[in-house]
Amino acid sequence: MLRQDTPTSLGTYEPYATLSLRVAEVVREQIRRKPDSRLGLPTGRTPTDTYKVLSQWTREGAINWERAKAFGLDEYYDVEETVSFRRYLETNLYSNINLPAQSQFNPLQFDDYDGLIAREGGLDLTILGIGQNGHIAFNEPGTPLLSWTHSIWLTESTLKANAEFFKGRPPANAVTMGIQTILASRKIVLMASGKNKKDILQKALHGPVTADVPASFLQLHKDLVVMTDFEY
Ligand code: GLP
Repeated sequence: MLRQDTPTSLGTYEPYATLSLRVAEVVREQIRRKPDSRLGLPTGRTPTDTYKVLSQWTREGAINWERAKAFGLDEYYDVEETVSFRRYLETNLYSNINLPAQSQFNPLQFDDYDGLIAREGGLDLTILGIGQNGHIAFNEPGTPLLSWTHSIWLTESTLKANAEFFKGRPPANAVTMGIQTILASRKIVLMASGKNKKDILQKALHGPVTADVPASFLQLHKDLVVMTDFEY
């Protein structure tokens, strides 16, 4: 948990900038320690400034991605390329770093995403956000603990939360890493920004472990770090 007034090298005292800096530091340290790290990467509003910091540090020569591999957590079906999660990662991160194109993976590209991840040695570090209804990646409420990469119908809550990125409604169907895919990652950082995530984070971390709140399955992980920009 972050103190509210931690100064950041970004020159601000905003807690979101601090959160972004701290998560970026975990990624930088992971790649420094294991240059061929396999990373699970999220999309959405929460990680955008983390990607800005990682892009800045790469420009400064502080991170070398050439041996790393990146695995998108999820992707919409039948989505216009410009608003796909693949494009989000391209714009926010991949276009600013020296991660080879052939090392950028998206679940829509593979029938057996879990097999690919296993053949690559498993995920070393997965960064997650959390949806308002407690989803992680696109594992919506009701997703069983024993789930691998699979297709899902998005809930109204998720469609509403993501509508601003689309002219109309987002595609209702998507593919996502499953709960097992995520829990198999050796290290997980769960990031939450904004007081509107406080209640669901409390439920996820301190409530019962239940498919009703898929993020609660993270309580089962042995190396979970939670980073927020609010007290919880
Ligand atoms: C989407 C993504 C998740 C993300 C969640 C929260 O559903 N599939 O990976 O964590 O939204 O997004 P935000 O960070 O914008 O609140």
